[in-house]
Amino acid sequence: MKINTHILFSLILLSFSLNIVHVLSQNSSESGSVSYILSCGSSSGGTDFDGMKWISDSSFLTSNNTISATAQYQDPSLPSQVPYMTARIFNSEASFKFSVPPKQRLWVRLHFYPSSYGVHDSANSYFSVIANGFTLLNNFSAYIIDKALTQAYIVREFSLTPVQSGSLSITFKPSTQYAGSFAFVNGIVIVPMEDIFHATTLVGFTDQSIDVHNSSVQTMLRLNVGGQYIPASKDSGYTRTWYDDSPYLFGAAFGVTFEADKNLTIRFPPSVPEYIAPLSVYSTARTMGPNPNINQNYNLTWVFQVDANFTYIVRFHFCELQLNKINQRVFDIFLNNQTAQQSADVIAWAGSKAVPVYKDYAIFVGDEELWVALHPSVSMKPEYYDAVLNGLEIFKLNDTDGNLAGPNPTPSDMLLEAESVSKFSHSESDNFSKVIGGVACGAAGIVIIAAICFFVYQKKKKNAEGSESRNGSWLPLYNSSNATTNSGKSARSSNLTNLGAGLCRHFSLAEIKNGTKNFDESQVIGVGGFGKVYEGIIDGGTKVAIKRSNPSSDQGVHEFQTEIEMLSKLRHKHLVSLIGFCEEEGEMILVYDFMAKGTLREHLYNSNLPPLPWKQRLEICIGAARGLHYLHTGARHTIIHRDVKTTNILLDDNWVAKVSDFGLSKTGPNLHQTHVSTMVKGSFGYLDPEYFRRQQLTEKSDVYSFGVVLFEVLCARPAVDPSLPKEQISLADWASDCGKNGILEEIIDPHLKGKISSQCLKKYADTAEKCLLDQGLDRPSMGDVLWNLEFALQLHEHPNGSVTEEEMKGASIYDMHNVMVTIEEESAASEETDELNNREVFSQLVNPSGR
Ligand SMILES: *[C@@H]1O[C@H](CO)[C@@H](O)[C@H](O)[C@H]1NC(C)=O
Ligand SMILES: *[C@@H]1O[C@H](CO)[C@@H](O)[C@H](O)[C@H]1NC(C)=O
Ligand SMILES: *[C@@H]1O[C@H](CO)[C@@H](O)[C@H](O)[C@H]1NC(C)=O
Ligand SMILES: *[C@@H]1O[C@H](CO)[C@@H](O)[C@H](O)[C@H]1NC(C)=O
Ligand SMILES: *[C@@H]1O[C@H](CO)[C@@H](O)[C@H](O)[C@H]1NC(C)=O
Ligand SMILES: *[C@@H]1O[C@H](CO)[C@@H](O)[C@H](O)[C@H]1NC(C)=O
Ligand SMILES: *[C@@H]1O[C@H](CO)[C@@H](O)[C@H](O)[C@H]1NC(C)=O
Ligand SMILES: *[C@@H]1O[C@H](CO)[C@@H](O)[C@H](O)[C@H]1NC(C)=O
Ligand SMILES: *[C@@H]1O[C@H](CO)[C@@H](O)[C@H](O)[C@H]1NC(C)=O
Repeated sequence: MKINTHILFSLILLSFSLNIVHVLSQNSSESGSVSYILSCGSSSGGTDFDGMKWISDSSFLTSNNTISATAQYQDPSLPSQVPYMTARIFNSEASFKFSVPPKQRLWVRLHFYPSSYGVHDSANSYFSVIANGFTLLNNFSAYIIDKALTQAYIVREFSLTPVQSGSLSITFKPSTQYAGSFAFVNGIVIVPMEDIFHATTLVGFTDQSIDVHNSSVQTMLRLNVGGQYIPASKDSGYTRTWYDDSPYLFGAAFGVTFEADKNLTIRFPPSVPEYIAPLSVYSTARTMGPNPNINQNYNLTWVFQVDANFTYIVRFHFCELQLNKINQRVFDIFLNNQTAQQSADVIAWAGSKAVPVYKDYAIFVGDEELWVALHPSVSMKPEYYDAVLNGLEIFKLNDTDGNLAGPNPTPSDMLLEAESVSKFSHSESDNFSKVIGGVACGAAGIVIIAAICFFVYQKKKKNAEGSESRNGSWLPLYNSSNATTNSGKSARSSNLTNLGAGLCRHFSLAEIKNGTKNFDESQVIGVGGFGKVYEGIIDGGTKVAIKRSNPSSDQGVHEFQTEIEMLSKLRHKHLVSLIGFCEEEGEMILVYDFMAKGTLREHLYNSNLPPLPWKQRLEICIGAARGLHYLHTGARHTIIHRDVKTTNILLDDNWVAKVSDFGLSKTGPNLHQTHVSTMVKGSFGYLDPEYFRRQQLTEKSDVYSFGVVLFEVLCARPAVDPSLPKEQISLADWASDCGKNGILEEIIDPHLKGKISSQCLKKYADTAEKCLLDQGLDRPSMGDVLWNLEFALQLHEHPNGSVTEEEMKGASIYDMHNVMVTIEEESAASEETDELNNREVFSQLVNPSGR
């Protein structure tokens, strides 16, 4: 019954995000042509976060049966109000018409923010979009995609085949299948482009080629292989975004990455205009590695999830940066286990080192996966058994009916369960008991899917003075593919696993100094694990928290960087985002989102802040549980936080709880291990006794610590309070004791007395006690904890609901037995040891030889 958290691990989704076009190329590929940047539903247009001007869409509409509307809620992860907060709503078919350069391909980008627009709730919106006869979207539900992928907004990019007429019409058509359905769009961007596509051989059919020229395509994916995220502003003219390829790598063999030598000049030949891909794509690469024996025995493989039954163009970008001669590095290219190219030799193709070349292959994909694999061509006896790749793009071609639309992602069973639970807050009593019934049957199988947001940090283009003036924004990935529901594949259907969007921003020390008034003491907002935490300003207005380590010299800088990059890719509503880092002059600085309301602890005790009402405390616990659940199951590897405590749960402006300092975590067990051995200790008072005994860390150690947090929230006292009588020193022991003796109500926060229904309190306390069970195996998973807390919240909000004692029992996942937990006594805990431990943890992080 236990949810296997590993199943989510190595499953790769094909996701892709397109950024807002914020700079149009100044270059000639679009000379004389007009781009359109429309903020739909807006009467006056406006400027977005990046300074790009959006104009009103109204003069491009060909009918007057549409509605301009404003979203009722602004999701905090929207980069700016423009274009997302206004929408054009279509209750019936309507079209936009644009005059465009004839015989030129067009990039068309559609922006959607699924929200409520007055009476128009995007949950009821299903529609199709047709552009010059091509079906771009069909039965499209931005709401479902948003639900399945939990991202605030969606951008889709298409490249339309050259328009002969010089006129482009884009038609929005509400679905007729659903009563009350409507269509909407928030932004439309149209940019003329060169025809970058040509006839391409179909893999497996040497005699067949695909005429891409007459087809429209949807961009599925764009990777800077072996390199970093490239924001739209750094693209070579078309404002495309390029992502790191590592999340898509299959298996354990990742090869090695490298960057062109500084004195190597990459020259674009006439056959590869610079707009094909920017220099930074060609100047980094991934190879298989230095060992020919290893290379012979594996395939460097990437796996992507795609829509079934479409033909795809897979574009490989190459540039040899190390070798000079033909037959030094020769390899085979496989697509879905078929040979796409034998004996690929980049020097042979490009003619020389440091010259870019790209190759396209077309493949029909009948299933939902696209495998790309490279292997040395051993039969050619090259000098090195190796393979290389610099960039990869995947485009979906329209089918013979001119259709590009794939199905909506199917929310997984788990997601549906989660939804039924969340709906239950506004449901009637019969629905209520239905949910309870479902709980009784499905109990431990239920995991609430945490809201996962993957955001990409985008830099602003360099300004004229050459100093990096950046304006941060988080852009989501969107998933272009559908997820599946059948059990065998349900794991990947959760869409939780894409880390491709992460970008670790590298700050200069000057930027940091500038933002913190040169580390002025007045900016200090805390003394954290490894040094001081400053409040700072970056990008001329964005508040951030800046953690500065005590300068030191022997740091494993590369490892630090790798680890930080990994962590910066974790984006979740309930995780404090690591924005970037700075390591310069021996400084090691981390830059985080600023959390206006500080730590959870200061809202509980030892401060003058007003006590929080019970409901808010519950919501904060639920948020933190979601964050932890995501760390445990949502990321590519299980991430064990290792230091869950109330000072690591932070609150933003809107009281949204965010788990912080997971930077001190370590990747958890993989498929074959059940624990991670480590000497690192968490904070006293929160520490899993099992871990204490066996020095083994599992995600259940976090569950234990979270149980302590739950009691801290309920009782408003520290986890360890040496001033109390012996039996009360450890909150975990004391609260478990009181629960067992039925006197828990006597030790809860006096401010809460009489304000919690007994049912809710029981549920909550039961959950916390289960978390504190001695054996990790007996403790619930974070998903179960989350569910139970949500349930407790329902019981709080519907104290007189139709739920009966029996149903409650049925709903309870775990046996009611209580186990007394004893933490081995250790010398008094204080913030000092707390800090010390954290410092140790951090030194582990920066100096992994300690592991
Ligand atoms: C525009 O293209 C020219 C060559 O055609 C190149 O020298 C120049 O750097 C490009 N400018 C930009 C902004 O890309
Ligand atoms: C909408 O257009 C129709 C025909 O073009 C016209 O008769 C009608 O008055 C217009 N309605 C409004 C509200 O402008
Ligand atoms: C592509 O479209 C053009 C114009 O419609 C047509 O002349 C040409 O024959 C088409 N090419 C193919 C291979 O169908
Ligand atoms: C680049 O510099 C390195 C030393 O820094 C040198 O060994 C190498 O030959 C140089 N390469 C070129 C192409 O000049
Ligand atoms: C793809 O096409 C095949 C053959 O028409 C069909 O059996 C299969 O169900 C299709 N797959 C999807 C996901 O639509
Ligand atoms: C390719 O081969 C691997 C290993 O044999 C297999 O797991 C995978 O499903 C295959 N992929 C496709 C698309 O056939
Ligand atoms: C590499 O992939 C190809 C195509 O799927 C397969 O035939 C071959 O056995 C693989 N080689 C290794 C070493 O896995
Ligand atoms: C895409 O649609 C066009 C127009 O309907 C058609 O000519 C072309 O063959 C289609 N492409 C493919 C790959 O089927
Ligand atoms: C439209 O999408 C919904 C939600 O994904 C799905 O249940 C329904 O079957 C789809 N309808 C069609 C005609 O594809």
